[in-house]
Amino acid sequence: MSLLCDRSNGTGRRVVIIPLPYLGHMTPMFRLAAALHARGHAITVLHTELHAPDPASYPSDYRFVGVGVPAAELPAASEDIAAFLVALNDSCAAAFKDRLAAMLAAEGSVCCVVTDVVWFSAQAAARELGVPALALMTSSAASFRTFMAYPALLANGHLPYDESRRDHLVEELPPFRVRDLQRIDTSSLDTFAGLLERFVDGARRSSGLILNTFHSIEDQEVRNIRDGLAVPVFPVGPLNKISSSPPPLPQDQDQDQDCLILDWLDTKPTGSVLFVSLGSVATVDAQELAELARGLADTGHPFLWVVRPGMIRGGPPDLDLELPADRGMVVPWAPQEEVLRHAAVGAFLTHSGWNSTVEALSEGVPMACLPCFGDQLGTARYACHVWRVGVEVQGIKRDTVRSAIHRLMGPGAIEEGKEIRERAHDLKSKVGQSIAQGGSSHMALLGLLEKIACF
Ligand code: UDX
Repeated sequence: MSLLCDRSNGTGRRVVIIPLPYLGHMTPMFRLAAALHARGHAITVLHTELHAPDPASYPSDYRFVGVGVPAAELPAASEDIAAFLVALNDSCAAAFKDRLAAMLAAEGSVCCVVTDVVWFSAQAAARELGVPALALMTSSAASFRTFMAYPALLANGHLPYDESRRDHLVEELPPFRVRDLQRIDTSSLDTFAGLLERFVDGARRSSGLILNTFHSIEDQEVRNIRDGLAVPVFPVGPLNKISSSPPPLPQDQDQDQDCLILDWLDTKPTGSVLFVSLGSVATVDAQELAELARGLADTGHPFLWVVRPGMIRGGPPDLDLELPADRGMVVPWAPQEEVLRHAAVGAFLTHSGWNSTVEALSEGVPMACLPCFGDQLGTARYACHVWRVGVEVQGIKRDTVRSAIHRLMGPGAIEEGKEIRERAHDLKSKVGQSIAQGGSSHMALLGLLEKIACF
């Protein structure tokens, strides 16, 4: 069956996407939109003015419709993320409904909306207007399953987090240990649990849940979600390999700098460079930054390190870190996918954000996992203990960084590192099989397109 829709015969109708305004969420949503657009669907982006995407970066036939957010009424996300997300949803609920109603009245051709799973208010607005709504989970299937299991985790005493039980296996949610469970330090656990319940409820009442994952890495998780939700589930990932779309937020991306990075990588031997990035949100304090710098210097390997402006808590970055200038390159941002694809890159020290993880799996790059919060804890568990394509970095200390990198990259021939590289290479092939004609992700995408065609 062809994936191509023909707008002239009505199959390529308008899909309204509603991304959450954060890079890790917008990136997969825009990749999904690009995949739908490439197969003939018209796209409208219903977005908040907070972190609004730049229309100039997208195909000229995308439409952009903004929703103002009264920033003054929102609690600081960094202080209480759960309260922030509830307030963000509440503050946009009426505007989502108004804008959607206006689109329906003006064109009548909106066939469905695709909202981030976090936008339960947008899901509700679509339901009230009778518009079919799909939900996109931008992180792992395991993370969504954690959302579903949260009441049991609380009832059975796995949470609130108890350090003395950190290594206990969670029977309800294998392979997680208590320390791998998503939790939140800045919000009350009740608020957080209530929020997760609303995400799950929105997905349960949706027309289907789209997952940025693929069967080879999360088969059982996808099955469990399917059984638990009783709506169609579409594991179409990894979306970075399904389509490309420019980064949705202006990240001060400097193309000259990107060229310098890639030129620098060109000068390095195959597999010799460690790429270090903690994503777009995680922060470290000055002490942790210094430990990380010393650990990197100790490894003896060349490294490319992303230190974002604002990544250091409690003050301006002090980059006088006594780094070996001949071996280390420190940049405020890197073209991550291109870097991971580069033959010189031998390992990735990552915070285990989901996009970074699937991008690394797609390129067969082994990982040193330094999860900082939230779903990153569980993703690191999968990378290191289930897929076994990474090693855990046990806290940001000079020695822990050095020893994790040593296990992956040497110096010297390290059997463990060799086996990890082989498994990473094998998973890269599985990504290719998943997205190829007839592969599981390809079939899921076909199913999604069929579903949309039926709305
Ligand atoms: C956030 C949460 O931190 C994470 O737990 C959740 O899984 C997704 O949302 P973020 O910190 O943004 O994620 O990390 P990640 O999901 O890995 O996304 C980062 C994106 O930024 C990736 O697509 C990566 O390629 C890109 N990036 C990052 C760059 O292009 N250049 C950089 O220098 C750093």
